[in-house]
Amino acid sequence: MNWELEYRSRCMDAAEALKLVRSGERVWIHSGCATPRVLIDALVARGHELNDVEIVHMKTLGLTAYTDPEFEGHFRHRGLFLGDNVRTAVAEGRADYTPILLSEIEALFTSGNLPLDVVLMQVSRPDAHGYVSLGTTVDCTLTAARSARVVIAEVNDRMPRTHGETNLHVNHFTALVETSYQPYEMLPLPYTEIHRKIAENVASLITDGATLQLGIGQIPDAVLGCLGDRRDLGIHTEMCSDGVIDLIESGVLTGERKTVHRGKILLSFVLGSKKLFDYIHENPSFEFRPIKYTNDPFVIARNDNMVAINSALQVDLTGQVCSDSIGTRPFSGFGGQLDFMRGAARSKGGIPVIALPSTAKNGTISRIACMLEPGAGVVTSRADVHYVVTEHGVAYLHGKTLRERAEALIAVAEPCFRQELQDFAERSNYMGKRPSVVCV
Ligand code: COA
Repeated sequence: MNWELEYRSRCMDAAEALKLVRSGERVWIHSGCATPRVLIDALVARGHELNDVEIVHMKTLGLTAYTDPEFEGHFRHRGLFLGDNVRTAVAEGRADYTPILLSEIEALFTSGNLPLDVVLMQVSRPDAHGYVSLGTTVDCTLTAARSARVVIAEVNDRMPRTHGETNLHVNHFTALVETSYQPYEMLPLPYTEIHRKIAENVASLITDGATLQLGIGQIPDAVLGCLGDRRDLGIHTEMCSDGVIDLIESGVLTGERKTVHRGKILLSFVLGSKKLFDYIHENPSFEFRPIKYTNDPFVIARNDNMVAINSALQVDLTGQVCSDSIGTRPFSGFGGQLDFMRGAARSKGGIPVIALPSTAKNGTISRIACMLEPGAGVVTSRADVHYVVTEHGVAYLHGKTLRERAEALIAVAEPCFRQELQDFAERSNYMGKRPSVVCV
């Protein structure tokens, strides 16, 4: 059949499409800038008719009414990476958090661990051959759409069409809902003087020809702002935001020295503004792939001089990195942090970096901590950690003893906390016994 007839036969309104969801089913929702807001509204509108529907996703943007107390027993959210829109529900026990490496999520769909019944997603208009594009966000959703029984998409004429492994044929969908609105934007936050100093310290580790991974948070974009005088940088990352545009336009990001996907920005999704959406539209220099590929540490490691830049909430004096919780309270997720830390560690000339401000809460809490807060989640273990960077400098920890780690980390802590950290390190015998001086 002609694909346009196939397409038309699948088009319906959102309320009709969401009738395909049944009680007891598991629903995957497309994340980030591709969060399908019209389908979510229609799902929530059916909430009181449904029981026990599990809603699974990574960081979405916009409202998550399905986590409201009124839907207990109807919907239950399982978060694989928490955004601020679900954090309270998880903290109050109305939703769940699953700690997992981003690279391993897609395998859950087929292993029997987390089979999916329904996928709700957002795609571009079809091209001349009947293929839609996942646009801003391939993440785990392309694989999800290949494994679920029912696949429902919003076809948004404002979703960009992107290159790489981003396409599905209209035949693949169970239902299509035409929409036209600006996809959610995540605007870059202005960074502070502290972020700028951290970024300068990170940038001091980045040489010409390096390939970069940029994690989530304000620091990665600040780092891009310090790289204007480098040459032939490349990108292999799970996500990127607006900061890449200026570096491409100024000829710094060429990818010419990349040893994998030379000349391409390899990524799985963008979190950015309309300016970035317009920039990636039909732009073959951006190669989108599923996360199971971009985040595979063995693929990452094939890039020489791979620099992975991720952030953290707390680092203890032995180098354990907490990034997904504040104490027992889940905050975000593993994301690709450990995937990229391990990939960069294996890369020839690779540099795995954890970059964070030395304090939180207006300087009242040291993020370089004697011990992690009880219940804090270790994302990067102390055997995986290499560089820890704050606004006060660079600590190199890999292969170092507990004494050497404590010394290096105290040197990059906020000065007013250093004595307390030193005293703790001595009391805990991290510093070891100093040989006594014998006077003759
Ligand atoms: N104790 C108490 N509060 C703390 C804290 C600590 N040790 N550390 C941070 N906070 C607070 C901050 O004050 C801030 O609060 P505010 O929003 O009220 O100002 C909040 O927690 C967030 O901290 P911030 O440093 O601004 O976060 P960020 O946006 O830079 O993100 C991570 C940092 C660690 C949360 C983020 O990088 C992450 O989720 N990483 C894990 C996953 C990952 O690295 N993925 C890589 C690719 S996606």
